[in-house]
Amino acid sequence: MPTRAKGEEFVVTPWEVKGKIDYGRLKTLFGTQELTPELLDRLRRLAGGELHPLLERGVYISHRDLGPVLAEYEKGNPFFLYSGRGPSGPLHTAHLLHFDLCGWLQAKLGVPMYIQLTDDEKYWLRKEQTREETYRWAWENLYDLLAVGFDRERTRVFFDTRSIGTMYPLAADIAKRIPYSTAKAVFGFPTSTNLGLMFYTALQSVPCFYPSWRSGRSVPCLIPCGIDQDPHFRISRDVAEPLGYPKPALLHSEMLPGLLGDRVMSTTGDVRDNAVFLNDPPKEVRRKIGNAFTGGRATVEEQRRLGAVPEICSVWAMWRSKFAPTPEKFDRVTRDCRSGALLCGDCKSDLVDHVNRFLEGHRARREAVKEWAPSIVLEGGAGEPGKPAGPPLPSAGRPGGAAAAPPGQPTSGR
Ligand code: TRP
Repeated sequence: MPTRAKGEEFVVTPWEVKGKIDYGRLKTLFGTQELTPELLDRLRRLAGGELHPLLERGVYISHRDLGPVLAEYEKGNPFFLYSGRGPSGPLHTAHLLHFDLCGWLQAKLGVPMYIQLTDDEKYWLRKEQTREETYRWAWENLYDLLAVGFDRERTRVFFDTRSIGTMYPLAADIAKRIPYSTAKAVFGFPTSTNLGLMFYTALQSVPCFYPSWRSGRSVPCLIPCGIDQDPHFRISRDVAEPLGYPKPALLHSEMLPGLLGDRVMSTTGDVRDNAVFLNDPPKEVRRKIGNAFTGGRATVEEQRRLGAVPEICSVWAMWRSKFAPTPEKFDRVTRDCRSGALLCGDCKSDLVDHVNRFLEGHRARREAVKEWAPSIVLEGGAGEPGKPAGPPLPSAGRPGGAAAAPPGQPTSGR
């Protein structure tokens, strides 16, 4: 189970992303599957003929078992979506990536969504992180994530320190089946690692199986996530079979570059100038994007003559991953950048307008979800499988319409 792409110029683990990532190499090392045009077409058909821009533009690069999950859906056994966030500070625009895709999938396919807020993970990971702080960020982050747009009837939240009573029996089942040797091989834990972090992967696995465990039947899971999270879910997939649950399927994205280019990685989110945060005022957005690393040339004359290089440009990355509202806009920016028709200054100020307009709407949506956000956090004890104890779970079905599919016959699930 190789995980750390060591000896390479890059490192990709759930807790460390460094260097210039060679995704072809990483997919081979991790053993993930190619996201083929056939699979994307199949998803497009199920979604009514459209594909989300993130899929269209190749931001998602690989998967595990997407095919079987779609096959189950086609047979009338809908999957649920699962993604999460380790709260340690405010969110920036790139953090919304998987939630954008999940919101779209939920709207198109009528599937339930589970969000996990791991207000223990970053506390265990980072010396300077206090528990109170990560708890507070979990709430703040939750409002931002829900502002993306989810159906509150079909969305539930695992908020680790609040939901633990619901999660714990399943976490115990999972933890029992992960030998120390596996965790060590996958994460490379030094002996100084605290017990919390060693146990953590069991907690991140809980949502993968929770609906199956609670309902006593086999409910498939699809997890859109950064490819850095794959090592956790390789473990979840390993324990699925002995526990009698379906293996969670994964859809992996690239790691988005920060505004400062390869010099810093966006996902750490620690460097304020490396990303546009969701609470940045308009002027700050203008300043940050103004200073962003681009694929432009040294002089205007050179750029007009040679064109710029979108693939290395952090501004282009923002158009691509979120801000180009239509395929036409995205194609135009890309083409004019490459040809030299579009200069970086103009491109940047156009992007600033798009980002500020988005942020204004986002803040309003964020205020609106605050009132009901606490009501979808899973709290309390879940009881045992098949028993209706614990909070109600969301069901599948198109918003406002009939269920997408009748639930399958209950099985023992074991
Ligand atoms: N470990 C993730 C992080 O560091 C948080 C997380 C929890 C997550 N569950 C997830 C991410 C499921 C993707 C999918 O941010």
